[in-house]
Amino acid sequence: MSAPILAVRDLRVYFEIRSNEGWLSKPQTLRAVDGVTFDLLQGETLGVVGESGCGKTTMARAVLGLVPVTSGEVLFGGKDLAHLDAGEMRAQRQHLQIIFQDPLASLDPRMTLGQIIAEPLRSFFPKLTASERQAKVVEIMGHVGLLPEQINRYPHEFSGGQAQRIGIARALILRPEVVVCDEPVSALDVSIKAQILNLLSDLQERFGLSLLFIAHDLASVRHASRRVMVLYLARSWS
Ligand SMILES: Nc1ncnc2c1ncn2[C@@H]1O[C@H](COP(=O)(O)OP(=O)(O)O)[C@@H](O)[C@H]1O
Ligand SMILES: [Mg+2]
Repeated sequence: MSAPILAVRDLRVYFEIRSNEGWLSKPQTLRAVDGVTFDLLQGETLGVVGESGCGKTTMARAVLGLVPVTSGEVLFGGKDLAHLDAGEMRAQRQHLQIIFQDPLASLDPRMTLGQIIAEPLRSFFPKLTASERQAKVVEIMGHVGLLPEQINRYPHEFSGGQAQRIGIARALILRPEVVVCDEPVSALDVSIKAQILNLLSDLQERFGLSLLFIAHDLASVRHASRRVMVLYLARSWS
């Protein structure tokens, strides 16, 4: 069995909620993620299933440092990502990326496909020339099944499935080691789901990715994963 690439220990994310009914009401604590522990092994797909609202997206965002962690550890490459400062976490983001649930909503409508996919390169490798950047963009577009002539198009010109290919290209252009897929096919038509799931498993093999694959139904997780973790209501009121 391979070694864990990512180890999450007793992860908790609590939100302070202020009711807007009555200014005397006390703030309440919403436990969105309440003690989640797992290992993601090198090169595997770990499925995460749980009903809507059980804290899957919050857990994903916490692993990537996109939402503050209340307590617990996110161990990656000998570091605890839950306790890095913003600059150190940003540097780690080269190695950990996310694919979002709603591809069209997650892409900036004012940017061309080429600009969207190149954005991580601009921020992590600012010294690349425009033509070096373009070559990398075109290469990753090929890997996700987009055509070079689509590079100047805008996201709204694409279907949901094509838009998710753009999101996948953007997530993979830095060649991350871990990719969190947050319900990557939930918003897609049934006929398109299998195409995107197959694409993800091809890319996993090609690039040696370790995938945390979140879904609300067992069917799409089963397609992708050998090990599945079930997240029950990671949430309660106190
Ligand atoms: N920034 C936030 N502030 C307050 N509550 C939040 C925030 N983000 C998520 N929540 C709440 O946390 C719970 C879990 O949400 P989420 O992680 O999106 O679940 P899932 O992805 O499993 O559907 C929900 O009750 C949601 O309303
Ligand atoms: Mg979600």
